[in-house]
Amino acid sequence: MRVFLLLAALILGVSCSPVPQNSDDLYTYKLCTGNIKNLWLDVMVVVDKSQLMTNAQLWQVRNTLTQVLGSISTIGPVKYPADPRSTCVGVVTYDDNATTQSQLDASTSFSDLYNVIQSSMVAVDNTNNSYLSLGLLAAEKAFKDGRSRTFRYNYRKVVIAFVADYQGQGTSLDAMPIAKRLKDNTVSIITVACTSDPVKQAAIAAIASPGLSLIDEMDTPKLVKQLTNALVSVNCFCPKDWAQFRTDINNDTSPAYTVCIAGFKATGGSYGYKHAIEYCADEEKSAHLANEFSKEKHDFDNKYMETTFTWEFSKIVYYIGLNYYKQWIWETPAGQSDLPFNPSVYSKWAPGWPQANSTDQVISNQKWIGDTSGEYFWAPPQTNDWLFLCQVESSSTEHYTDFSQF
Ligand SMILES: *[C@@H]1O[C@H](CO)[C@@H](O)[C@H](O)[C@H]1NC(C)=O
Ligand SMILES: *[C@@H]1O[C@H](CO)[C@@H](O)[C@H](O)[C@H]1NC(C)=O
Ligand SMILES: *[C@@H]1O[C@H](CO)[C@@H](O)[C@H](O)[C@H]1NC(C)=O
Ligand SMILES: *[C@@H]1O[C@H](CO)[C@@H](O)[C@H](O)[C@H]1NC(C)=O
Repeated sequence: MRVFLLLAALILGVSCSPVPQNSDDLYTYKLCTGNIKNLWLDVMVVVDKSQLMTNAQLWQVRNTLTQVLGSISTIGPVKYPADPRSTCVGVVTYDDNATTQSQLDASTSFSDLYNVIQSSMVAVDNTNNSYLSLGLLAAEKAFKDGRSRTFRYNYRKVVIAFVADYQGQGTSLDAMPIAKRLKDNTVSIITVACTSDPVKQAAIAAIASPGLSLIDEMDTPKLVKQLTNALVSVNCFCPKDWAQFRTDINNDTSPAYTVCIAGFKATGGSYGYKHAIEYCADEEKSAHLANEFSKEKHDFDNKYMETTFTWEFSKIVYYIGLNYYKQWIWETPAGQSDLPFNPSVYSKWAPGWPQANSTDQVISNQKWIGDTSGEYFWAPPQTNDWLFLCQVESSSTEHYTDFSQF
């Protein structure tokens, strides 16, 4: 009945508006977007100052950084603020050595930062040696030192590296192992290749996180826009070890949704649906058993669970947040009202389901006996494995979270 009322409300809502107008938004996954104004990240800028950069390129770097970082509302660490969204920015320059021009938490306003940018990148140095590895090491240390003073452990770390060459490949000065270590520790790396040599561009791109390699074509507005978008996308992140729902399962640079998922296996003495609900909420604040409002999400969930658990389970059967309590409902974050299942949004019932009397039924995704398509269907679990899938809203510039980012 409530399903019917909600549908009626949706239709009537078009002409009379006390009904929440965006009720259908409740069944829609949102793509990551945001506003640079509200950025909350820890950023280390790493700039090549060797002669392989030109003074014109260095000017372009200053100009780009000034415009991008100048659009952020709050620069520097903030203490007990009403709005904790702020961005700390430190600066490292390097060539055959690296210099930390300013620590992560040293600038407490944009004007502090502006002075650092303008004074530390005036002209290139008199050397053709350029070891990004030294710049990355200095940035890594600055993150560590900065964190120990600011305790900003839930802010995503990002390196923006302006790089004219990739030297030291295969030697002890190779940047790759350090870049890998940083990325393994949830640091995102944005590279800006300041060279027109396509071979060097490709080598530099290999240092970057997926989808975050840029090329400086000496077009400031273009680079400002690209860098702004890159930072906003980095700010849309999931808890460590959770997967982010994307438009293309097989492409980790395809547009991401503000939706994170993680699969778990119940352990110890407590099993079952109720336990799974509590387990999700214990993992992350506001996490709940997963919903499926589209085929895209259903497919993503299944692929993720297969990838994660096939080594351990011959059949993948796992709870999602669909259950029957007077009517079919989807789980929501603790404290929010349940969301009625809406058959016009999406459904993937197994043959014979749902049943007329479904009292106390809980639903799992599973392949179906006799079905040869290999697809997963919704039905009460047909095995005793206690896998389940949790879901939580990602962070974004518009949604502050306390996911740990060590
Ligand atoms: C970089 O500078 C530091 C201190 O100024 C020095 O100890 C170190 O040897 C230098 N490294 C290189 C590779 O020149
Ligand atoms: C750097 O290389 C360029 C081009 O090969 C050369 O003209 C310049 O003198 C070199 N600079 C130094 C400091 O060796
Ligand atoms: C992955 O997605 C990105 C962004 O939409 C796109 O540019 C790229 O071509 C895609 N890669 C593949 C292999 O489909
Ligand atoms: C539905 O199932 C419940 C639980 O098995 C049972 O108590 C109830 O009587 C059933 N109702 C009907 C209408 O069959």
